[in-house]
Amino acid sequence: MIRSSFPTSVAVFALLILNVGAKDTFIAAVYEHAVILPDKTETPVSEEDAFLLMNRNIDMLENAIKQAAKQGAQIIVTPEDALYGWNFSRETIFPYLENIPDPKVNWIPCEEPLRYGHTPVQARLSCLAKTNSIYVLANIGDKKQCNSRDSTCPSNGYYQYNTNVVYNSDGKLVARYHKYHLYQERQFDVPQKPELVTFTTTFGKFGIFTCFDILFHDPAVTLVKDFDVDTILFPTAWMNVLPFLTAIEFHSAWAMGMRVNLLAANIHHVSLNMTGSGIYTPHSPKAYHYDMETTDGKILVSEIESRPRFSPVYPPAINWNAYAKAIKPFPIQKKTFGGLVSRDEFNFTELYESAGNLTVCKNKLCCHLSYHMLGKEENEVYVLGAFTGLHGRRKKEYWQVCTMLKCKTTDLTTCGQPVETASTRFEMFSLSGTFETEYVFPEVLLSKIHLSPGKFEVLKDGRLVNKNGISGSVLTVSLFGRQYTKDYSNSGRANHSAISYLLITTLLIITALQNIELA
Ligand SMILES: *[C@@H]1O[C@H](CO)[C@@H](O)[C@H](O)[C@H]1NC(C)=O
Ligand SMILES: *[C@@H]1O[C@H](CO)[C@@H](O)[C@H](O)[C@H]1NC(C)=O
Ligand SMILES: *[C@@H]1O[C@H](CO)[C@@H](O)[C@H](O)[C@H]1NC(C)=O
Ligand SMILES: *[C@@H]1O[C@H](CO)[C@@H](O)[C@H](O)[C@H]1NC(C)=O
Ligand SMILES: *[C@@H]1O[C@H](CO)[C@@H](O)[C@H](O)[C@H]1NC(C)=O
Repeated sequence: MIRSSFPTSVAVFALLILNVGAKDTFIAAVYEHAVILPDKTETPVSEEDAFLLMNRNIDMLENAIKQAAKQGAQIIVTPEDALYGWNFSRETIFPYLENIPDPKVNWIPCEEPLRYGHTPVQARLSCLAKTNSIYVLANIGDKKQCNSRDSTCPSNGYYQYNTNVVYNSDGKLVARYHKYHLYQERQFDVPQKPELVTFTTTFGKFGIFTCFDILFHDPAVTLVKDFDVDTILFPTAWMNVLPFLTAIEFHSAWAMGMRVNLLAANIHHVSLNMTGSGIYTPHSPKAYHYDMETTDGKILVSEIESRPRFSPVYPPAINWNAYAKAIKPFPIQKKTFGGLVSRDEFNFTELYESAGNLTVCKNKLCCHLSYHMLGKEENEVYVLGAFTGLHGRRKKEYWQVCTMLKCKTTDLTTCGQPVETASTRFEMFSLSGTFETEYVFPEVLLSKIHLSPGKFEVLKDGRLVNKNGISGSVLTVSLFGRQYTKDYSNSGRANHSAISYLLITTLLIITALQNIELA
């Protein structure tokens, strides 16, 4: 019997494998780690001392990895700089670095610890993944020897990179990513070009980048748009900045705006405002953590969809300016005034009544707000604001922002300054803007730095609206847009691509004309 039905059972069996092999959901973990920092020093420590410190931090990661695995997690992300902190020169970081090979060498450091020289950190991390049968992302330092024929080779003969590594559940190195957008990290070098690093598992396709990278087009946006990754692994050492760039606020908004899963693991270091990790999905945050009270780390574990873009509830693509461009601007208020959010010059208008329709413009960006407060608090003032331009002191990133935010005090000159508590709730809000970019990240931040999962959504026409009843107490409701093509560092490249585009178009037209003649 069994033999006679052999072909059928093979077919059925194959189908079963296919179905079982591709999982609909998986269990993800992120670990917010309170890193043990080295003593301040101007002179490099020995390799032994560097390893001792890293080992103490890895002991804590081990504990987190074990707990996550026990809760069924298939993958865990640990933070940037989690093994040694961030305050180094090129010389003082050097004893912490190891040579990390390209994953294509097919290496399980746990089984062959000496294959690439002295690499005790990689061996231990690989063993943690293997022993606990879980994918592990860690952030460590890579050193790559170069020689004087290479004119960019640093004087110590090594390139030094801020690097993410991923080990699979057998302990094999499956990914290596060198951070591209360094943030005041004089100890590290910038790789020649942004690296697009992905790997595939039975629970989806993964992409990787680090911290400040999230504010730029490459590799972050390209991984999602052109490489179709399902989930981004994102280690960070993120200092929170109100009102738009607090970790949980911006990272959850990026996942929604890009419609991708994002596993964000931050350092926990309260005196530098570093806290805020989360497991974010295209609809809403699944789990998040923000803690300015304790000095402890935290593990988050959550089940999420492996391939969100094939899910029946995958959010639709959004036309970010459809509504705002279609309506007539609400009558401009006489009370429009200028104000600074950090160094950026916003145009503001006050939410003077308890309900209303307002428009405020800054250059070509017009922001519209319809709102209805549950009650107008005497001691709280909100404004609608618009900003478009190169951001901050460095003036490299081009921002387009529409925001409704609570001012620090009732004095209008304090609008845009950090404020952490509010009591005003909204029966209704609807915010939109005439954005000139498709990259807009919807943020809603509530009193005491809380997110608002399930209580707001973005409509297909680009309106950010509340849902499921009265809102929580609002600090800010914002549409944070990035117009990458106007970034300062990109202008050369943008021109380049415009020229190649023109050339290709011309060639295509010539070819088409020739074909017509031939026909
Ligand atoms: C960084 O290290 C330098 C030199 O060791 C020290 O002067 C400075 O205070 C440190 N900064 C922080 C934020 O720890
Ligand atoms: C932390 O955040 C608070 C409030 O936003 C700010 O006043 C303070 O300067 C920040 N601290 C650091 C070290 O950046
Ligand atoms: C805001 O405009 C809508 C129509 O666009 C109108 O129905 C509503 O009454 C207006 N609200 C206020 C408070 O003016
Ligand atoms: C700010 O708003 C006022 C009032 O609507 C407007 O006249 C002004 O042009 C705006 N500023 C910019 C830079 O757009
Ligand atoms: C392109 O090149 C021109 C002239 O070199 C420059 O003015 C412009 O800012 C560049 N960038 C863009 C995005 O047009």
